[in-house]
Amino acid sequence: MKVFISGNIAPIALKQLEENNISITQWKEDRQITQEELIEACKNQAGLVSVGPNKIDSEFLNACKHLKVIALHSVGFDQVDVGEAKKLKIPIGNTPGVLSGATADTAFLLMLAVSRKAFYLHKKIIDGKWQNYEPTPELGIELNGKTLGVFGLGKIGLEMAKKCMAAYNMKVVYHNRSRNEEAEQEIQAEYVSFNELLAQSDVLTVHTALTSETTGKFSIDVFKKMKPASIFINTARGGIHNEQDLIRALEEKIIWGAGLDVTNPEPMKKNNPLLYMENVAVLPHIGSATEETRAAMAELIVENIVAGLKGEKIPYPVY
Ligand code: DGY
Repeated sequence: MKVFISGNIAPIALKQLEENNISITQWKEDRQITQEELIEACKNQAGLVSVGPNKIDSEFLNACKHLKVIALHSVGFDQVDVGEAKKLKIPIGNTPGVLSGATADTAFLLMLAVSRKAFYLHKKIIDGKWQNYEPTPELGIELNGKTLGVFGLGKIGLEMAKKCMAAYNMKVVYHNRSRNEEAEQEIQAEYVSFNELLAQSDVLTVHTALTSETTGKFSIDVFKKMKPASIFINTARGGIHNEQDLIRALEEKIIWGAGLDVTNPEPMKKNNPLLYMENVAVLPHIGSATEETRAAMAELIVENIVAGLKGEKIPYPVY
């Protein structure tokens, strides 16, 4: 059985696929594979491990109907036309659960970095602009006892909430499409309306999927309902905030700061004003990028591929 892997994945996955007598072809170039190249590469394959943002859309799925399984190297599956995959009966799997801790760590890192202007001040040293010790340089703000607002209290949001409670005794409010009663019991998070979430949050952290409902959700009108001293964190998908509106909200001091692990587009352009603002920290979509988490994701990918190739029900289906 042959499988195409469209990028770099943890070596453990390659080893395990080979142990299952699966023959691998891997995209090795230092750029994202194009859609046409991906279709071409999948022609004689039985399975695909999809690494990165390639669209598993109707065009791709219809051109690659022969695939017995597609294993995503992500928990998010906004790049997939699930309806079409269902229609064509192509099983698609993702990597749920195993990356919650690492992604929440990234959100926490960004929150702390923004609150103390860490990325900006680090760059100041590199640029030779740190002249002498000053008691009132660019001052940060503290997080202790503040209110964390979680937009999307699922597994990752819950991990982020727990870290903020343990580190800073933060109060947690959240907004979801439907209440997460289990999480409410576990951490005493309070369910609030979206407008209340905006009004109450000192730090607002986004952990929801990118859907038609959440695309562009954080627009200027929404930022205007947030506290002027608040911090906006997004480690979910760049499409959930409107980037021009976020820039305006920061420039006009409508909100205090922002931390982003996801941008729209990715990669972010070098001249993007967000990269040069004092109260902003940007990372290149590294939410789950730890040795441990990538190895754990690799195992789920292998399980999905092996089951799919055997014609069995895959263990981590997206539908
Ligand atoms: C995920 O798993 O969804 C990460 O954001 C990588 O895309």
